[in-house]
Amino acid sequence: MYFSLMPKKKRENLYNREREFEELEKSFESGRQILLTGIRRIGKTSLLQAFLNELSERKIPNIFIDCRSFEKAGSFDKNGFNSRFKALLDKILSKNLQILKKISKISLYGIEFKFNSDVNRFDLFAYLDMVNELMDRKGTKLVIALDEAQFLRFYGRGGKEILNLLAHVYDHLENMIFILTGSEIGVLYDFIGSENPESPLYGRYINQITLERFPKEKSIDFLVKGFEQVGIKPKSEYIEKAVESLDGIVGYLSMYGYIVQTTNEWQKSLEEAEKMAFKIVKKELNSLKNRSENYMHVLKAIAFGAETFSQIKKYIEIHYGNISDQTLSNNLNALVNSSFLEVEYVQAKKLYRIPDPVIKKVLIS
Ligand SMILES: Nc1ncnc2c1ncn2[C@@H]1O[C@H](COP(=O)(O)OP(=O)(O)OP(=O)(O)O)[C@@H](O)[C@H]1O
Ligand SMILES: [Mg+2]
Repeated sequence: MYFSLMPKKKRENLYNREREFEELEKSFESGRQILLTGIRRIGKTSLLQAFLNELSERKIPNIFIDCRSFEKAGSFDKNGFNSRFKALLDKILSKNLQILKKISKISLYGIEFKFNSDVNRFDLFAYLDMVNELMDRKGTKLVIALDEAQFLRFYGRGGKEILNLLAHVYDHLENMIFILTGSEIGVLYDFIGSENPESPLYGRYINQITLERFPKEKSIDFLVKGFEQVGIKPKSEYIEKAVESLDGIVGYLSMYGYIVQTTNEWQKSLEEAEKMAFKIVKKELNSLKNRSENYMHVLKAIAFGAETFSQIKKYIEIHYGNISDQTLSNNLNALVNSSFLEVEYVQAKKLYRIPDPVIKKVLIS
């Protein structure tokens, strides 16, 4: 079924992601680290979970961690993250207990390490070394999927500790693959820093997969097929309207379909879907506003039609007061990095756009 409010867990429930699925598969076969990016509600978690589910069916061990859930008011619950990581690794390990018994006490980098050691003394490096050894013996790979990995930049020393771990895995642990996803695309790239000589991951090749919006025909087809699946005769005039309003962002389309399906009300469902989407977006914009009021000014300028740097500056100065070029430039960069804005070049002009139609509507409402 295509319509639901939760991320999908099975491939058959994913519409139009065959190519990306194949890319994941190929990267898994040959790659060491995979980056899966795309704006909010585009289906990253769904694709990832469907992929992991297939791996599980093939008895390939994998773990999934939502890094976003460890962020609290700008700080990262490192112990919570470590505990979850350890618990998931333990699960994998205990499944292989027979082999493990033989190596339950092994020496790695001079560390006497024991399975089931308490979490406060948990050494992620040593633990992963041990798991890698186990995978090697089993002749399989372990896939570690970190959803919304940009939050790991708050993990010890500006995220350096976790980057060191990723570099260690990349360089030494052949039976392990990390998949990182992120909706704050630029932030994630900056964090990983594979092109930054200061980053532990500098120079490492990373397979990148980007999820895009559906083009108009695909969005329409998604709704038509989704309605057919639940025995509802699609009504094209409503579907066209919904696609016009919600664009090719599958999360919104799926929510709309779900509301029609549960209420049986074509007339009101788009309004309802928009209301729900508004609520989600308002929450995100509020947390952005808490970081800086300026961000809202910049976004409003663009929502009301300013596109170039000078147009945006002019709009802000008329409505909110002076802003220096440097501040505006920093704000624009931060908004592009967190995927609230996209850049497009038209005839050598740099134009800023809001990729999410609902965010745009909330800003002008
Ligand atoms: N290919 C797809 N086919 C059908 N439904 C999908 C597809 N991809 C995502 N969805 C639906 O869209 C919604 C958003 O998907 P998902 O949570 O996977 O996106 P996301 O990019 O991880 O979002 P976020 O940035 O909020 O974490 C979910 O309700 C999910 O069921
Ligand atoms: Mg997600």
